Amino acid sequence: MKYSTRLIVVLYILASLSSTCLSIKTRKAKEPKREKNNTHQVGFSNLCTIEDNTAAFRCFCHGGTAPGNVTNTECWIFGSLAKDHEVWFLFSSQPRLTELKIIVRPDGQLGFIPTKALEYLKDLKRLMISYGNVDVIHPYAFANLTELRELTLPRSQIANLDHHAVAHLPNLTEINFNENRIYQLQKDVFVDLPNLQKLTINHNNLSFIQEGAFRYLSHLVELEMKDNFITVLTKDTFTGLSELKRLDLSFNNISRLGDLTFAELWVLEELILERNDIEFISDRAFAGLTHLRKLDLGHNNLTTLVNNVFDGIPAIYFLDLRYNHLQTITFENARPIMHNLRNRTTYFYIQDNDFVCDCRLKWMYGLYNETKSDRVKEVLKDLTCYLEDIQEETYDNNDDNYVFDDNYVTASIEELRDPFIRRLLHIPPNELPCPQKIKNPTEIPRYPDKTPAYAEINSIGRCSTTSLLPLFIYAIATTVDRIIT
Ligand SMILES: *[C@@H]1O[C@H](CO)[C@@H](O)[C@H](O)[C@H]1NC(C)=O
Ligand SMILES: *[C@@H]1O[C@H](CO)[C@@H](O)[C@H](O)[C@H]1NC(C)=O
Ligand SMILES: *[C@@H]1O[C@H](CO)[C@@H](O)[C@H](O)[C@H]1NC(C)=O
Ligand SMILES: *[C@@H]1O[C@H](CO)[C@@H](O)[C@H](O)[C@H]1NC(C)=O
Ligand SMILES: *[C@@H]1O[C@H](CO)[C@@H](O)[C@H](O)[C@H]1NC(C)=O
Ligand SMILES: *[C@@H]1O[C@H](CO)[C@@H](O)[C@H](O)[C@H]1NC(C)=O
Ligand SMILES: *[C@@H]1O[C@H](CO)[C@@H](O)[C@H](O)[C@H]1NC(C)=O
Ligand SMILES: *[C@@H]1O[C@H](CO)[C@@H](O)[C@H](O)[C@H]1NC(C)=O
Ligand SMILES: *[C@@H]1O[C@H](CO)[C@@H](O)[C@H](O)[C@H]1NC(C)=O
Repeated sequence: MKYSTRLIVVLYILASLSSTCLSIKTRKAKEPKREKNNTHQVGFSNLCTIEDNTAAFRCFCHGGTAPGNVTNTECWIFGSLAKDHEVWFLFSSQPRLTELKIIVRPDGQLGFIPTKALEYLKDLKRLMISYGNVDVIHPYAFANLTELRELTLPRSQIANLDHHAVAHLPNLTEINFNENRIYQLQKDVFVDLPNLQKLTINHNNLSFIQEGAFRYLSHLVELEMKDNFITVLTKDTFTGLSELKRLDLSFNNISRLGDLTFAELWVLEELILERNDIEFISDRAFAGLTHLRKLDLGHNNLTTLVNNVFDGIPAIYFLDLRYNHLQTITFENARPIMHNLRNRTTYFYIQDNDFVCDCRLKWMYGLYNETKSDRVKEVLKDLTCYLEDIQEETYDNNDDNYVFDDNYVTASIEELRDPFIRRLLHIPPNELPCPQKIKNPTEIPRYPDKTPAYAEINSIGRCSTTSLLPLFIYAIATTVDRIIT
């Protein structure tokens, strides 16, 4: 009896052990299935209190979890969720959310914008989704939310935006698509966004922008498309951006700027074209930019500037032409902005080019004397050029301080390694070589020329021939004079 009782007990223990093993096994086997079954009953009624450890989705709600009371939550995705997964319907439990962050964890996936969830969030003001694998943003993905202000979708592998992808969002002010793979912008992607002020598409794969892509963004103030592969801009690329103040296209592959490229940007103040491959700028490329204050063309491939290139930008106070291959900047180039170059607040960065020491640079001596800007003085003082025709004795003597009022010399000529390189202002101006082919004026006229001031030009309009107006008035005046006498 004893043995049989023991046997039964032992058998019982073994049996119960194996059955628990079994149940653990079956549970383990079931778990992944449960996660993958997108329509299974979640069994929670509140977005903020999902407690199931196996859930592919967790939300951390700020300031309590009471149903219908939460305004701010951060949700993490651990698994793969389908478009019709029940979890998206849970957002109906917190319809007062104003701020939603969705972060896809390394083991998670999110291949779409969860429009189903957004539809419940009529108060949502800020939406951020990051680390998804969204690929395409489908039409009306953001559910026409009337309160949405900020849309931030970085690092989500977005490659394409369907037509009407970002549409009917009357209060949206800011969009950020940084660090995705967007390769093109088509015409009807951004529609009915009457309050959009800032659009950022930095670090993407953009090479094609359809003409008119921004045509509905009439209140956009700032557009950034840094670090892409943009090669071509046409006069219709920026159609419609009539309130744009800042355009950043640095780190792209733009090779030329044709006529009227920016002509629709009536009020543009900052144009950043640093680090492209710009080789050519047409004389009307900047036409119409009467409000432009900052122009950055540094790190491009410019060798020459056409005469009237700066005609259209009378308000400029920051001009960067560093790290190009410019052989000269003529007085004709600088004439339209000479007024600004004398201003105390001006920046005029022209170092690190391939300037040739000849009389085309002679106007810079005058500017050095006249400008009130310490920064302009500083640049001109150290400006170097390449002297093709060396006549050492003429000015290598003790004449180092030729135009300097003080005795401060930052570096002697000996410190410049290349024997052909000179500091421009160390060369007496009348000893600058002046080949026959250079015909244009090279000096600032003795009496400062009447470069029309910014306000004058503006009050008359955007016409680039305003500089002829004084002539015209003069002509009429003399005719009247003659008639009278
Ligand atoms: C998912 O769960 C539902 C029950 O909620 C069931 O009818 C369906 O067959 C399951 N699908 C899969 C693929 O397991
Ligand atoms: C919801 O929030 C309000 C104040 O914002 C508070 O008075 C109320 O008690 C909250 N309701 C619940 C159920 O927590
Ligand atoms: C958004 O508006 C468009 C056009 O009116 C409509 O077709 C679409 O169904 C709307 N989407 C939502 C989620 O309301
Ligand atoms: C934009 O938001 C304000 C403030 O919440 C709201 O009053 C207004 O109705 C919204 N605009 C539109 C067009 O819905
Ligand atoms: C960027 O676009 C080029 C073609 O224009 C493509 O070959 C490349 O794979 C794209 N890069 C990414 C990260 O999508
Ligand atoms: C674009 O410019 C970058 C550097 O700005 C350069 O590395 C790249 O080769 C260029 N690509 C093309 C297609 O020219
Ligand atoms: C700059 O222009 C020259 C021709 O003027 C060309 O050979 C060179 O490849 C260009 N460099 C870049 C980086 O585009
Ligand atoms: C110098 O520039 C500033 C703004 O940059 C402007 O307010 C000021 O009127 C200018 N001075 C002259 C003399 O043009
Ligand atoms: C610069 O000023 C100095 C002294 O004020 C004067 O001697 C010199 O002629 C001026 N140079 C030019 C190019 O105006």
